[in-house]
Amino acid sequence: MTTNFYDLVPYGSYAYPRTHIAHLHTVGRLFGLTVPSYHAARVLEIGCASGGNIIPMAAQYPRSHFVGVDISKSQIMAGQKMISELGLGNITLREIGIEELPRELSGFDYIICHGVFSWVPDHVRTAILREIRDRLSPDGVALVSYNVLPGWGLVQTLREMMLFHCKALPTPEEKVAQARALLRFIKDAQTTANNAYSMAVEHELAVLESNPDWYIFHDHLESDNKPFFFHQFIETAGQFGLGYVGDADLTAMLLDNAPPPVVETLKGVTDPVQLEQYLDFAANRRFRSTILCHAGRTLSRTIDAKLTRAFYLQPAIDQVSIDGEKHIFGQNGTGRAFVTDEPATIAALKVMLEISAPLSFDELVGAAVQASGLSTAVIEIALDAILMRMAFAGLIRLSPEAPSYATRLKPTPKVLPLVRNQLDRGNTVVNGRHETLQLPPVSARILSWLDGSRSREDIIKSVSCLVENGEFFLESDGKPIVEAKERYAVLAETVDSLLSYFLANALLEL
Ligand SMILES: C[S@@+](CC[C@H](N)C(=O)[O-])C[C@H]1O[C@@H](n2cnc3c(N)ncnc32)[C@H](O)[C@@H]1O
Repeated sequence: MTTNFYDLVPYGSYAYPRTHIAHLHTVGRLFGLTVPSYHAARVLEIGCASGGNIIPMAAQYPRSHFVGVDISKSQIMAGQKMISELGLGNITLREIGIEELPRELSGFDYIICHGVFSWVPDHVRTAILREIRDRLSPDGVALVSYNVLPGWGLVQTLREMMLFHCKALPTPEEKVAQARALLRFIKDAQTTANNAYSMAVEHELAVLESNPDWYIFHDHLESDNKPFFFHQFIETAGQFGLGYVGDADLTAMLLDNAPPPVVETLKGVTDPVQLEQYLDFAANRRFRSTILCHAGRTLSRTIDAKLTRAFYLQPAIDQVSIDGEKHIFGQNGTGRAFVTDEPATIAALKVMLEISAPLSFDELVGAAVQASGLSTAVIEIALDAILMRMAFAGLIRLSPEAPSYATRLKPTPKVLPLVRNQLDRGNTVVNGRHETLQLPPVSARILSWLDGSRSREDIIKSVSCLVENGEFFLESDGKPIVEAKERYAVLAETVDSLLSYFLANALLEL
């Protein structure tokens, strides 16, 4: 009997916003495709693990039908258990390989294959593209993610050294521990700092040390792990009658995101595959999420900037700084920023930053007009000029629908039903934006209390009980707070900041 390594060490089955059907719909529309509605769609996920990605979508869209397939029995069983606990009737998970998909499973409007293509043998890779071609509806779109070169080039060498070193070790735990130990050994052996080898080892060691064992085991130590150049993947997909729509990460496509010399050199390249290939070379990219459709469909590569008017706009900026006339709207931790000295643009972006929740174009214009006193036409022109660029710069996110989670705090907040269910299992939850969050234990516990019947005062009282029982500590300058008034003030501040966190992280019901 062959060992299924995913049964032995299950993959952390998470939700990935870039694979969400509403996002695939959005990218298709930006490039001029008619894409099926995701509210009544047929959706297939290949290599769904225990359904961490597909189950939240099934819970969100009850009129769509979802099928997940995976060869790992234990993962499929874990997913099936969750589906039955949630009482979902629009999703089935099946323990089968993509190469043996029954004929009746066809006509899918969306096919997702995330984190599988690089990690399977050649015949399964072939099956993935063949089945996408054969099972995708005429207007459908598919997402396939894979490791790419040149980013994975040097990692590949390190991986082979790790595989050699860990070959004889009996357990996954020992293999992962020794993979990390090998890289530490090589790092310590470097006498000249900043040579290419030591920098690569140091970078990869950081990846290994900041990721859980299951990730290292299946990503770096999996028997199959084949990276591709982007152009090679597109060429292979083309042989299966599939054409390139775009990347699920919009920032991978925009030349303006690259440093000025790269922009200067590549500005004349019009073919998107050529352009993005050179951008991958320049950025040493190591992972891609490519959206495909049937070859021969007409795409528009000149994106109409006014298309953003049809979407909800979720700000991904979280700070503003001023430098003379310039306002710099930035994103914490990424170095991404939008710089402007144009008054109407500044007014609109300040409003966006302040509201910090998804707004339709009209809502944003209305709020900016009210805040600035400028005319509707002036604000509209300013926004038309920047929103699409900001979307491709990763500074706003486009969504085809209004948020299905609370964006304002209610007097008696209620946690989203899926999150409620996940909290019974642990502290890892999928929020209303399809993001996976690991909540600290006390936050998870307090979130689980929010059943729509408790007010802020009730929550403060309950947290106070936790403090009295010694389950939660309130301190000031390292000392317990005993004085009642101060204690109440700190409790109230703690609860308020938690409620704001739950709200900002799309964890509460509308
Ligand atoms: C690295 S995991 C990725 C899981 C999930 N898609 C994600 O991104 O988190 C790869 C998954 O592909 C599954 N798999 C491997 N070969 C497969 C095949 N022939 N057909 C379907 N699933 C397969 C594995 O069992 C495993 O769950």
